Amino acid sequence: MRSSTVSLIVISLFLASGCEQSTVVLPEATKTPTISTTTLVPSVAPTLTRLEIAQATIDAKQTTSDETSGLLEDGLRVESPNKANEVVFGLVDGVPYYGVNHNGQPIILPSKMGFTFLEAAPLNSGLTIADWEESTFDEIWTQPWGEAKEIRDHHNELRIRLSEVSDKPRELIIVFRVFDDGIGFRYEFPEQPNLKDFQIMDEQTQFAMAGDYDSWWIPAYQENRYEYLYTTSPLSFISREVLSGVHTPFTMLTDDGLFLSIHEAALVNYASMTLRADENLVLKADLVPWSDGTKVKGSTPLKTPWRTIQIVENAGDLITSYLILNLNEPNALGDISWVKPGKYIGIWWGMHIGKWTWGRGPNHGATTANARAYLNFAAENGFDGVLVEGWNLGWDGDWTANGDQFDFTTPYSDFDLEGLAVYAQAHGTRLIGHHETGAAVTNYESQMEAAFALYKRLGISTVKTGYVGWGQGIKRYDENGKLVGMEWHHGQYMVEHHQRVIETAAKYGIMINAHEPIKDTGLRRTYPNFMTREGARGQEYNAWDDNPPDHVTILPFTRLLAGPMDYTPGVLALDFPEYRSNRVDHTLAKELALYVVIYSPLQMAADLIENYENNPAFQFILDVPADWHETRVLHAQIGDFITTVRRERDGDEWFLGSITDENPRLLESTLEFLTPGVTYVAEIYADGDGAHYINNAYALEISRVLVDSTTLLKLNLAPGGGQAIRFYPASQEEIDLLPAYQP
Ligand code: NOJ
Ligand code: CA
Repeated sequence: MRSSTVSLIVISLFLASGCEQSTVVLPEATKTPTISTTTLVPSVAPTLTRLEIAQATIDAKQTTSDETSGLLEDGLRVESPNKANEVVFGLVDGVPYYGVNHNGQPIILPSKMGFTFLEAAPLNSGLTIADWEESTFDEIWTQPWGEAKEIRDHHNELRIRLSEVSDKPRELIIVFRVFDDGIGFRYEFPEQPNLKDFQIMDEQTQFAMAGDYDSWWIPAYQENRYEYLYTTSPLSFISREVLSGVHTPFTMLTDDGLFLSIHEAALVNYASMTLRADENLVLKADLVPWSDGTKVKGSTPLKTPWRTIQIVENAGDLITSYLILNLNEPNALGDISWVKPGKYIGIWWGMHIGKWTWGRGPNHGATTANARAYLNFAAENGFDGVLVEGWNLGWDGDWTANGDQFDFTTPYSDFDLEGLAVYAQAHGTRLIGHHETGAAVTNYESQMEAAFALYKRLGISTVKTGYVGWGQGIKRYDENGKLVGMEWHHGQYMVEHHQRVIETAAKYGIMINAHEPIKDTGLRRTYPNFMTREGARGQEYNAWDDNPPDHVTILPFTRLLAGPMDYTPGVLALDFPEYRSNRVDHTLAKELALYVVIYSPLQMAADLIENYENNPAFQFILDVPADWHETRVLHAQIGDFITTVRRERDGDEWFLGSITDENPRLLESTLEFLTPGVTYVAEIYADGDGAHYINNAYALEISRVLVDSTTLLKLNLAPGGGQAIRFYPASQEEIDLLPAYQP
């Protein structure tokens, strides 16, 4: 369908709902938000941003006035293939608005769209619809590695070309894609005579929520990047208290029991999006600024990232929604036979608990002898690699402040890099490279090519990068080496840096695992060597701080919706009194279950090798794959519990991980995912009698029993506990010998 005459559009479906605040029943795990307001104000927010915030608030109020919601009738509409989700787009006096309905009920009220620029006039009013086009797409594509092998991309698209009413008109294209599990939309600035180079001062995209929904979030513009515990609160709390806004994925639960999550897809050549909430429950896109206050420096043609809203009826369906991947471009790297998921160990936890140091000294971790011991252990146990941190010059002193001292090609003298690389390969494993930059990006970029070339020559095919640095603290220099600004980890400067890293790494056949990264937006589809990232509070916090037991029951519904996470599970010595008084607030079984619940194609066995030797729980870590054929979520309650099952890639084995927060749970499920008529062995790693994450964390019961698809499984989870199970088709001998499962 095409039309060149639609101009003033009326969207009446929004009429009924208004913006009234409704009573919300908080889910069981809802906690009183604990972050103090003072810590939530951006520490180094540029002045311009504050002005823009004020303007945005005024705009938002105008948006939700009766004047707007009462006017509209004939919006352009596009539905999902199953007709459950619908986007309506229209112009009100030349101002673009969209809204979203689910089963006829508004979930996003009329929400403004548009841009302001540094020099050019805003592109947010005085617009007409020049033409529009609808299309349908249905395709199944294959992930080279992932949490599911085959993914269906089935959506309807509405593409609208807007033109300014002006003697020098500019054009803006808005594309909506509507899926059964949510929607995505993006702006395109086509090549055109009246718009060439530009600096975006504000993307005015709004998400006007239709109720005071519960939400799970971490604050934006903080010192520790994405590394915060999640707060559960109504949206109105964010609008009152969280002046800095929140990061995405931003997950919500509506009064009608729908789960929504706002994020973005395909973040390239642009700033990342955070969200600020106003008192009308309007969330507004807040692009992370450059140090000069501009948001995006661009030129036509330019496509923004997709703004994504996952819309599902069960929390678990957020996890098996592949909407964000579907909105990314296919593989751009050609032959990627060198990209391989796998499991690794490392000279790593020892530094975090204080057994070793990164820098030189009597307890230096990255010695040739240590590395040989870890390589031997990796080879004996079939690990794909050994990460060694602290191997190169630059770690002595305060490396977090002196990142420009890092040398990425010169090993410390007690670390025989060349010899160890040969030793590793001779034993059928590899070293995993490490580039901690201390957020000194210019120093890293000046050595990056040589650093990757060195690793390639040594057969090192995976590199963990790191950007430890605080707040708006990344130094940006001009081409003459003059310091021109301090950047955030999440602005366009760093988006473009990570892009250069991934492309350079690909040139050398290297996979990347980024810590303190830019958030994942599904780019692994386009750049399959961008394997995994940190970007949340991972295991390391248990060494020197604390992740409470519910943290990992929130991550799958928030951070993990963006993409895989290098959480680094598998610490089996849950306390380590000889080094520190901290401990992991999980039972042993829960620590195992994380291998299934928290997806990463590079999955670490994080503990010291002495804690794995002769430990029966270690067998599960050896057995569990890092690459999957399909994923299902059996139980899901955000912040309370989750049970995930995954089938190994191209195989018959299934793995189950179930975890709870600080409360005990009894969860039940049949095993319908197993092939009917086949008897399986279930190797069960369950919380033992009296297990408790505080005082009996090691109580573990391992059993081997027979099950089939009709078995009713009962998961008895201790406080802070979990359960991990491997299912594989039983041999005749096992069928004869093993007992049937008794719940
Ligand atoms: C922070 C990373 O998350 C951690 O894994 C690493 O050990 C340190 N930086 C040092 O690079
Ligand atoms: Ca970190």
